[in-house]
Amino acid sequence: MLDYYSKKIHVFAFLAILSFANQSLMAQNTQAKVNQDPIGLLIDARLGNCITCHSIPNLPEPHGNFGPSLKGIGNKYSFDEIKQWITDARQIHPETLMPPFGSTNLYNPISAEPILTQEQINLIAQALAKLK
Ligand code: HEC
Repeated sequence: MLDYYSKKIHVFAFLAILSFANQSLMAQNTQAKVNQDPIGLLIDARLGNCITCHSIPNLPEPHGNFGPSLKGIGNKYSFDEIKQWITDARQIHPETLMPPFGSTNLYNPISAEPILTQEQINLIAQALAKLK
């Protein structure tokens, strides 16, 4: 009897560990995808996090409306202009509330690193330039 229960506990423990390991594996996979995929970068809370403030077509709800919708943004701005918006919008609107993702100047005095790398900004700008 005791044996039966102790085996059962082992099975439970095993399953619990397995499901935990599987969950963290899934989280890692999602993370890897997010880091390569420009749309993933847009939604990744630690990176672009653009949907906190912008509605962006084809991306999951909920999104914020602190900034304007980026629907059709590729008609409004060129790739280079979109890149400028993301890198440091203060050069377009000095009073802007859009965070400078590619600059460390002013907003980010503590960190020497910009929030996004040039490569990440290029990927995001490419994806946005296609929103027509
Ligand atoms: C903290 C909120 C916030 C976040 C996060 C944010 N933005 Fe913005 N964004 C704004 C605001 C506010 C404006 C309008 C600023 C202005 O007019 O000066 C704006 C403007 C823009 C514009 C110009 C829109 C237009 O129609 O003129 C683009 C493009 C843009 N953001 C892209 C992005 C991208 C890409 C990201 C993610 C990498 C992002 N934003 C993250 C707040 C944000």
